[in-house]
Amino acid sequence: MRYSCSVKASAVLLVSLCAAGSIGSLRAALPPPRESAELAAQYEAVSRPQFVQGRELLSLLSIEPGDVVLDLGCGTGRLAEYTAKLVGPHGKVIGIDPSPYRIAIAKRRERSGLSFEVAGSDDLSSFASGSFDRVYLNYVFHWIENKAEALREIYRILKPGGRLGISTGLKSGQPSRVRELIRESIREVLGNVPPNLFLSPFRMTRKELRDLAERAGFRIVDLRVFPLSDYAKDPNEVIAFLSASSSGRFLSGVGDAERQRIIASLKEKLSRLETGRGIEMEHPAIFLVGEKPR
Ligand SMILES: C[S@@+](CC[C@H](N)C(=O)[O-])C[C@H]1O[C@@H](n2cnc3c(N)ncnc32)[C@H](O)[C@@H]1O
Repeated sequence: MRYSCSVKASAVLLVSLCAAGSIGSLRAALPPPRESAELAAQYEAVSRPQFVQGRELLSLLSIEPGDVVLDLGCGTGRLAEYTAKLVGPHGKVIGIDPSPYRIAIAKRRERSGLSFEVAGSDDLSSFASGSFDRVYLNYVFHWIENKAEALREIYRILKPGGRLGISTGLKSGQPSRVRELIRESIREVLGNVPPNLFLSPFRMTRKELRDLAERAGFRIVDLRVFPLSDYAKDPNEVIAFLSASSSGRFLSGVGDAERQRIIASLKEKLSRLETGRGIEMEHPAIFLVGEKPR
């Protein structure tokens, strides 16, 4: 079977990288994004959980009128548009995202004091040192491979006294019901659950996130787990959410026929979770607010 071959190859790679002591290189195992205009539009339609989490994050960041804010990994720009209202006519919000499709949607929201560009955490060199009052990453950090380098750069572009806000997926030993079903469906079709087929490998525990931010020089102002749950209206919306939120990585790397079988099995299982409110999806996140010392 096509997949089991690649699983064997990954296992060999894993063993050789471990033996070479270069476990960090394993992170290259994150599949590349599979973006399209359609997926970006889908993200705009199903990203209510990220928006709810984002508003909560902003409430911890104490954004003030006149602030200059960077929304790093802004997606289709919905939260940045909300932030622009908080900073008012004398403030400025810039949203950046590596996906040109998402930025194309975000650009429809542009107006005075709100702008968007295609860029990612790997190159913030176009921003001058000490130029932002606030930088936030809402549900983005678990997609970033080189987190230490990203934090170093964010530290540089923040003003002294400026604040960093992160909401990111919690690494937890307790998978949600929906995640259990995904695992079951994958196992049914492939016989095992290869890594990185449906979850980012870069999720963190509270301690890992705290240590990383402190190492970058931030003083921790707030660190908490935010246990959001939300309802998708039906199995199709759950699958759209998983695909769009992962930039098309959900089940990428599986052949088309197997993917279709996994999705059919998953839809059937998800339909058993339907209630009058829809299907409950849990999105446990960690929130961190850090300050660059004055
Ligand atoms: C789950 S979406 C969150 C989007 C937005 N922050 C929101 O609240 O709706 C994750 C976003 O992170 C972006 N992303 C992935 N890797 C990134 C990186 N290295 N730097 C900046 N953004 C990145 C993706 O393109 C995607 O739009």
